[in-house]
Amino acid sequence: MALKDEIETIRSQAEAELEKAADTDSLEAWRIKYLGAKGAVKAAMQRLKDVPRELKPALGKAANALKSTLTAAFEQRVGQVGAGSAKRSAGPTVDVTLPGSRPRIGHAHVITQTVEEICEIFARMGFTVATGPEVEDEHHNFAALNIPPAHPARDPLESFYIDEQTMLRSQTSTVQIRVMENTEPPVRIISPGRVYRPDTVDATHSFMFHQVEGLYVDEGVSMADLKTCLDQFCKAYFGPEVATCFRPSFFPFTEPSAEVDIEFHRPDGTPYWVELGGCGMVDPNVLEAVGYDSEKYTGYAFGLGIERMVMRKHHIPDIRLLFENDVRFLHQF
Ligand code: DAH
Repeated sequence: MALKDEIETIRSQAEAELEKAADTDSLEAWRIKYLGAKGAVKAAMQRLKDVPRELKPALGKAANALKSTLTAAFEQRVGQVGAGSAKRSAGPTVDVTLPGSRPRIGHAHVITQTVEEICEIFARMGFTVATGPEVEDEHHNFAALNIPPAHPARDPLESFYIDEQTMLRSQTSTVQIRVMENTEPPVRIISPGRVYRPDTVDATHSFMFHQVEGLYVDEGVSMADLKTCLDQFCKAYFGPEVATCFRPSFFPFTEPSAEVDIEFHRPDGTPYWVELGGCGMVDPNVLEAVGYDSEKYTGYAFGLGIERMVMRKHHIPDIRLLFENDVRFLHQF
């Protein structure tokens, strides 16, 4: 490299490195590298004796200028870094005796956390998770579930219709049908998700809420299996001391049908029961409609309300709190 270029290279490299030197050790290393007895500036000066005579005056001047520029820059930088450490040594500007404060970072919504926990509990009992669309057709929401056209639930004012045949699903039972249509038995699934009903909003009702559906179809599945499964689930989610109760009920897609309640206690010890959802043995009509042999296979199904569980477990008095998304409320979970 021509000496003229070398001088320029040394200058720009040295200046860049000097910028980065932020403590005494790195400044000293820089000084030795550039201004030391065996440093880059000295080496450039030594090369002067080999350059042609006529170039010597100009290059000599450039080399001297390099030395003085770098020396001045070095001294200035020493001043800056020194002033910085002097300030630091004057004492900490942070009061380390104050209690620590962490920035508030986000986390999953309490409903999402609950859905994950529910999936995990059922996974231990061999259930896999299936999902279905929230915009549904009447066939999956009603007809395939043995709900006849005259049934009160099919009143157009009881669901959010998009057009004559399309609606926001009013229950997750739709996923039972979708799974059975595409799978040969045995099936053992749960399906958590949002459902929609035009209910007037109050402390216990919302036009949108969450359910978890369950379906198990195989040879020889019985009501005893259903009771065991839901009882085990409730104990796993609410605690080993909770009692469950199955009350006879009616759903078009199960026969027999039941409602499952769990027992809680008021602070004074008196018991009370809270309905968690519906369940039953899958109606043979439902099995036949998806092409299952109802002589060979039996199954149970259930549908539980997720907000109910969340509110019960965390003592939340009003369902609206779950959807207002006020972080002062949400960050507690
Ligand atoms: N889909 C019913 C509802 O929304 C709940 C339900 C009842 C689901 C019985 C089931 C069942 O799977 O077997 O009210």
